[in-house]
Amino acid sequence: MSEYNCVKYRCPSNIALVKYWGKKSGGVQLPANPSISWTLTDLHATTTVTRTKLTDTHASSVSLEFFLAGEPKPSFEPKIRQFLERIAPFMPEVKDFHWRIESENNFPHGTGIASSAAGFGALALCFADFQRADLAGIQTWSEEEFLQTASKYARLGSGSACRSVYGQPGIWGETKAWSKATDEFAVPFTAEVHPSLNNWADAVLIVDDGEKSVSSTQGHDLLKDHPYATSRYQQAQINLERLLEIMKKGDLEGFISLVESEALQLHAMMMSSEPYYLLIRPNTVAIIEKIWLKRKETQWPMAFTLDAGANVHLLYDKSYSQSVMNFIETELLPYCKNSLYLCSNIGGSPQKN
Ligand code: PMV
Repeated sequence: MSEYNCVKYRCPSNIALVKYWGKKSGGVQLPANPSISWTLTDLHATTTVTRTKLTDTHASSVSLEFFLAGEPKPSFEPKIRQFLERIAPFMPEVKDFHWRIESENNFPHGTGIASSAAGFGALALCFADFQRADLAGIQTWSEEEFLQTASKYARLGSGSACRSVYGQPGIWGETKAWSKATDEFAVPFTAEVHPSLNNWADAVLIVDDGEKSVSSTQGHDLLKDHPYATSRYQQAQINLERLLEIMKKGDLEGFISLVESEALQLHAMMMSSEPYYLLIRPNTVAIIEKIWLKRKETQWPMAFTLDAGANVHLLYDKSYSQSVMNFIETELLPYCKNSLYLCSNIGGSPQKN
């Protein structure tokens, strides 16, 4: 065991282009379909993990305390405890220590932005880093093995988090379109992306900053007996295959229509679950329609996408930044809660601090 007892990582959030929605019935957090995302380098979590050896080694449960933005947050501990219990079979030393976990996000709280991808990404990187240090001299991990381990651990915290450990687009879930892809962890899409799709950014338009009426965990669960689940999974397979080709070729029209269709399919699955529910709000729809109208008038390369919530992600080619910012400020801000939107560049790897 190394003398290395404190580690800190910063990890970006991500936004899926082809959505993960639904889990396989066996295993822990295995996706029912493949997904791909862009990391949002400017919306990130920074997590410091400090460990102290327990005298009673191999305790039956994990020992931890969690702080968010400097405040103790015992309400987060059950989810983190579950994460640690899930990684313990791969990292038995989890039960030998007390873990002090301090995390903070660089985006404001209560914006409805899912912080779990960045948060579990950063946490998983810290644990994989401890494990790599403990194994030094016994086993050497390549950078690829380290990131795959971190991605697997992140997946066990929050499925979509596993894609956040790469600067390149992250692919998660088996697909014949990318031979390295697996359900266990995300892998980077290393093919050359066409220049027309390699310089984009995201403006997250905050429509609703409240607690979601149905959590992602509940949402995934509702896919189990969903009448359209099988066709959605097939469609996601097809869309992923198409998107990889689109990204290589730089087919902008194909990109826009596929990404927007994926966002609407995600919400269509929510609307047709049993019980049905809606996470989009009237202002979500108003923003989408404004984007469609503006694109029709200007042909700007931009597309909207949605997470499991009401906020709209406006993805756009950065060469059009000034025009898009002006469009947001003059036409979209009235639909944003407290006139709030957050911008991020696409890409950017996690950083060890
Ligand atoms: O990672 P989870 O369990 O919170 O699932 C979220 C899934 C979506 O954000 C809605 C889509 C995705 O692929 O990120």
